[in-house]
Amino acid sequence: MRCSRLKKTEMGLFLALGSVTILFLFFILHMTTPTCQLPKERLGTPTPLAPQAAPTRPPPVPCQANDSIATQPDFAEQPEHVRNFLLYKHCRDFQLLQDARPDKCAQPVFLLLAIKSSPSNYERRELLRRTWARERAVRGLRLRRLFLVGTAPNPLEALKVNRLLAMEARVHGDILQWDFHDTFFNLTLKQVLFLQWQAARCAQASFFLNGDDDVFAHTDNMISYLQGHDPNHHLFVGHLIYNVGPIREPWSKYYVPKIVTLKEAYPAYCGGGGFLLSNFTIAALYRASGILELFPIDDVFLGMCLEQEGLQPASHSGIHTAGVHVPSARLSSFDPCVYRNLLLVHRFLPYEMLLMWDALKQPGLTCGKLTRIN
Ligand SMILES: *[C@@H]1O[C@H](CO)[C@@H](O)[C@H](O)[C@H]1NC(C)=O
Ligand SMILES: *[C@@H]1O[C@H](CO)[C@@H](O)[C@H](O)[C@H]1NC(C)=O
Ligand SMILES: *[C@@H]1O[C@H](CO)[C@@H](O)[C@H](O)[C@H]1NC(C)=O
Repeated sequence: MRCSRLKKTEMGLFLALGSVTILFLFFILHMTTPTCQLPKERLGTPTPLAPQAAPTRPPPVPCQANDSIATQPDFAEQPEHVRNFLLYKHCRDFQLLQDARPDKCAQPVFLLLAIKSSPSNYERRELLRRTWARERAVRGLRLRRLFLVGTAPNPLEALKVNRLLAMEARVHGDILQWDFHDTFFNLTLKQVLFLQWQAARCAQASFFLNGDDDVFAHTDNMISYLQGHDPNHHLFVGHLIYNVGPIREPWSKYYVPKIVTLKEAYPAYCGGGGFLLSNFTIAALYRASGILELFPIDDVFLGMCLEQEGLQPASHSGIHTAGVHVPSARLSSFDPCVYRNLLLVHRFLPYEMLLMWDALKQPGLTCGKLTRIN
């Protein structure tokens, strides 16, 4: 489970940054021909644009709501997102609106970053592309990136943002977008669709980082850590959560009423902000996800899939999806020395990612002394 998102001050900065970028994008969009062919050189992309993969099958017929669920007692009094979850939880076949660049997994990938992002989180994706999620080779091991998105539930917003995502897909080839509403209770659906895509299209990757777009991931450290592991053995590590169960308080973001599950305990799972897993384990999750009914909290659902396969999640001390404990009052919570040995920390603002990535890359980073970022 994740904690509340942005604070007010952070939100202000984020919005200011965001509106400038969006204005710029709109300027570009409206300056182009009606077919939306973008002038490639203006976006400064270094690689030639790959053509989109041809659709391999006709779009699925829209999934019908299961109205028989609505006859259950208690259904009518549930919040709208719970009712939507119940009505559509049997739906798993959605059109892929944007596919990854066809060569994404053409050569063996050592670490594939599968980052859940909301359609409108353009700034976050841009910063990640320039920082820890930059596609590169680390000591000869290939790192590749994908953003997993759905569609904006508001139709007007969706029209606009779908154009943005089409553009990002053309320029970067790193968008997987499916035609379902990108809401909190549909994150499990997003996860399951990614497992399907991975099994069909990227089965040759060794390891995966599955996480959110508001984390800071030290991907160089992750690769060092993963080099000591066998992709054909079980690995599922993150911020381990156990001995918890459904929250029955309707005001909570994580509210799961009895109409969804009567169970009072969740299996152990890793916080969804970010966790690492092997090729072996992702195949097991894919199998289990085809058997189990969807559960609205995505990270708990993966815990259920592991349990179904007789596998356990494990804790990694370098993964902090609930914030980081700063060891001394003399160190700022933003000191790169706090982060240089960590793998992943939750909730960073876009500009903080940039500063932190830059600071960690400084050859002269000396820790042990008090260091400052200028
Ligand atoms: C619809 O819901 C009922 C329970 O209310 C269930 O028995 C049935 O299998 C569901 N149908 C589908 C297509 O999931
Ligand atoms: C999940 O997406 C489907 C398809 O867009 C939608 O009908 C449903 O309401 C969504 N569920 C939730 C909980 O938002
Ligand atoms: C990953 O697992 C699949 C089977 O699910 C196997 O075909 C493939 O060779 C494995 N890849 C690596 C890099 O271990």
